[in-house]
Amino acid sequence: MFIDSLECSWLESPFWRSRFPITDAEQLETLLSSDVYWVQIDDSKGKGLPGPSSPQSQVRVETPTHVKTVTKAAPSPAVQKRPAISVMERQEIKRLSPRERAAEMRRASTTIKRSREDVMTLFEDARLGNSVKSEKMAPLVERISNSVDIDPSVILNMARLKTKDEYTYLHSVAVCALMINLGRKLRLPEAQIHDIGMAGMLHDVGKTSIPDSILLKPGKLEDAEWTTVRDHPQRGHDILSASEGVSDIALEVCLRHHEKMDGTGYPGKMEADDLSIFTRMSSICDVYDALTSQRPYNVPLSASQALAKMQSWSGHFDQLILRDFVDSLGILPVGTLVKLDHNELAIVIGESPTDFAAPIVRSFHSMDKDRAIAPQDIDTGRKKSRKVLSIEDPEDWNFSDWSNLSAKLLTKQM
Ligand SMILES: [Fe+2]
Ligand SMILES: [Fe+2]
Repeated sequence: MFIDSLECSWLESPFWRSRFPITDAEQLETLLSSDVYWVQIDDSKGKGLPGPSSPQSQVRVETPTHVKTVTKAAPSPAVQKRPAISVMERQEIKRLSPRERAAEMRRASTTIKRSREDVMTLFEDARLGNSVKSEKMAPLVERISNSVDIDPSVILNMARLKTKDEYTYLHSVAVCALMINLGRKLRLPEAQIHDIGMAGMLHDVGKTSIPDSILLKPGKLEDAEWTTVRDHPQRGHDILSASEGVSDIALEVCLRHHEKMDGTGYPGKMEADDLSIFTRMSSICDVYDALTSQRPYNVPLSASQALAKMQSWSGHFDQLILRDFVDSLGILPVGTLVKLDHNELAIVIGESPTDFAAPIVRSFHSMDKDRAIAPQDIDTGRKKSRKVLSIEDPEDWNFSDWSNLSAKLLTKQM
């Protein structure tokens, strides 16, 4: 059978790849004894399940001995909650209350203001050729970590809104916060979380070796300028190696954050097998922040646009970690079916301009009346607006044709 995807986090997967053929009993045994609960198989690339074939089938892996097919319910005209099989565990959405969020926004704002001086001092030391005092950054990493624990969307939304002048230091803060948040999502040991955050904070210290004329150049870079840019991981690694108290994780992330899974990254053109989990995390967090920030040479993308773009680049990122990264941000992709308060179903059509974790949704179905209602767009990020209560699986609702209905809803052809 050809495995098209595995339903588990990166750490739970015993395999390096998420798409591969099962070719021997040993691989099968490894899969069955793992924490993988679901696999998607592609019948066109390998043996399918017994019975009528479909291009792709979802299979539940029930350890230790058997594999079971999930059959899809026959479409029915009425939209009724289907009782028995739930394909995916439903996610409940927990958010801070408006008052708690306001308090956290004040704390996060103070953290970001204080970070400016600390990061600028660190980068200035590096620019002057001095070793850097990374231990001075420890309280800042701690404050960022606390903020991420309370609600990552608060500090991450703030760090995303940066001017060109603020990019240098706020990019360090943002990558630090993103790395901590992703580390928690991957359930990495608590002892490593501080080092992972510090690695995000220090990863671009080598950029101090790049002249502003290149760093802030709005147009295309010349070959010689590219060579200078591509040198910053090695320059940063040299600076950190000459400094005291820098962890191995920070050294590695600094040198390897521009490597790619397909071996086309820089400076080492490393193969995927040689890239650690920290390196893989850092390239995702680094690119995500760059794409969603105002930079001299392009306009920022929204969080969901950036993630869609990153998912489309084959060979760049570890796709399993990227999926956990999307989960860690709490972003609901466009097209997700959700349940709103007032017992209504809605589809995600975008994200609130100031809060990537608050979707803009289009309501279309009353659960109380069990019938379609006139579509209404709701920005859940606005203070007095409605709330998303849970993510729903369309399989649990007997829509006659969800892919057609969702396409119509998204293009407003109702
Ligand atoms: Fe970099
Ligand atoms: Fe970076």
